[in-house]
Amino acid sequence: MAKARTTAFFCKECGYESAKWMGQCPACRAWNTMVEEPTAKREKTLSHSPSPGARPVQKPVRLDEISIEEEDRIPTGYRELDRVLGSGIVAGSLVLVGGDPGIGKSTLLLQVCRNLAEDGHRVLYISGEESLKQIKLRANRIGSISGDLLFLCETSLDNIEETIREISPEVVIVDSIQTMYREDVSSAPGSVSQVRESTNVLMQIAKGMGIAVFIVGHVTKEGVVAGPRVLEHMVDTVLYFEGERNVSYRILRGAKNRFGSTNEIGVFEMREKGLVEVENPSEYLLNGRPEEASGAVVACLIEGTRPILLEVQALVAQSNFGLPRRTTAGTDYNRVNLLMAVLEKRCHYEMNRYDAYINIAGGMRMNEPALDLAIVLALVSSMKDKPVDPKTIIFGEVGLSGEVRAVSMAEQRVKEAVKLGFETCILPKVNLDKMKKKDGIRLCGVSNIREAILLI
Ligand code: TYD
Ligand code: MG
Repeated sequence: MAKARTTAFFCKECGYESAKWMGQCPACRAWNTMVEEPTAKREKTLSHSPSPGARPVQKPVRLDEISIEEEDRIPTGYRELDRVLGSGIVAGSLVLVGGDPGIGKSTLLLQVCRNLAEDGHRVLYISGEESLKQIKLRANRIGSISGDLLFLCETSLDNIEETIREISPEVVIVDSIQTMYREDVSSAPGSVSQVRESTNVLMQIAKGMGIAVFIVGHVTKEGVVAGPRVLEHMVDTVLYFEGERNVSYRILRGAKNRFGSTNEIGVFEMREKGLVEVENPSEYLLNGRPEEASGAVVACLIEGTRPILLEVQALVAQSNFGLPRRTTAGTDYNRVNLLMAVLEKRCHYEMNRYDAYINIAGGMRMNEPALDLAIVLALVSSMKDKPVDPKTIIFGEVGLSGEVRAVSMAEQRVKEAVKLGFETCILPKVNLDKMKKKDGIRLCGVSNIREAILLI
């Protein structure tokens, strides 16, 4: 008789299962990602009698039979986080918080726990990475904690499930899914099958008991949550906490949200005493801006529903080699190359003789097309060594023939510029034609980049 297979090969990226090893995963096309792991135990019975404890068969219903009461939302005490979640925590939802190690995931969630406990919610914080002592040290840094907040150091999900049933909290934090394990899965914690099975258990807890569960997940070098990609499919919401190590600002970004928009971002600052919300990021991002420096312009972007002003810096310098150097920080490299090609072809600047460096100040990462015009004008300003008026704000998309195209939400962008004391705005002409006259700011509509360059 053939022996039953006990191991299989899993793709570390997407969780694809295969009986034999392969160099490339046929599902996600990643190379060298197949690892051998014991298969999870499956108790599939083909008998017709339902096994004890199985869920009863549900009947299909018509749409008008489904009642939609407003879901219960629990405010987190942070407006920045609530906005990203879609106005608060939904009971019974499963939220994955990903981010580089040391970025502040545990700190953020601990502070959220503190707020929730102070509002009278029962919260359980489970850590598989730190001892209770370490948690206490961190808690001391962020200030006093009162209310119904319980801590548990545990990595076995069977024990965790039991504890949750016992104390029935409203919100549970699981600090790092990569440390959790189930006893009936024989591979090591952090492996594909463990992460998948553990998330499964947490999903059943969340859905079955109506508890909101936050899962912390570490991010690999490639920027995805370590372990199988399937994790992202299983949860309701995926949030990424990002930022540069040497910059104190942190951005919380939604990558998937079944209960809200994914365009929203939340901005926090890591201080000595924990994370603080940054309610007006534009002000901070423009802080310490050099006056009268060439190559620096201010752009206006929309993140979700909120306009954000930030500084785009360009440095264009004579190239000493045949192949000019180009680097970008905080924006898309290929887009910058494209814009330089447009400048070369449509305005006859000899960009191929120059090295160019583009930087978005403040450690922000932005890819909105409305940034194009600001990048173009920053490049020209640096090349001509001619500063742009510091009270000018620029936005607009640039097309391949050098035309400046309309962008969305132009009114909001202009309003934010007025609020922060800007005096001139260079914007697409198409947007200007549709806009009401604004007091306190001079609006200059442009239809191609040549017109825009004449204005600076
Ligand atoms: P942490 O939340 O442990 O990161 P993660 O869980 O994402 O790995 O954050 C650790 C970093 O934050 C650490 O480098 C110290 C810093 N930190 C502060 O600057 N101020 C504080 O009040 C706290 C608690 C941490
Ligand atoms: Mg941590």
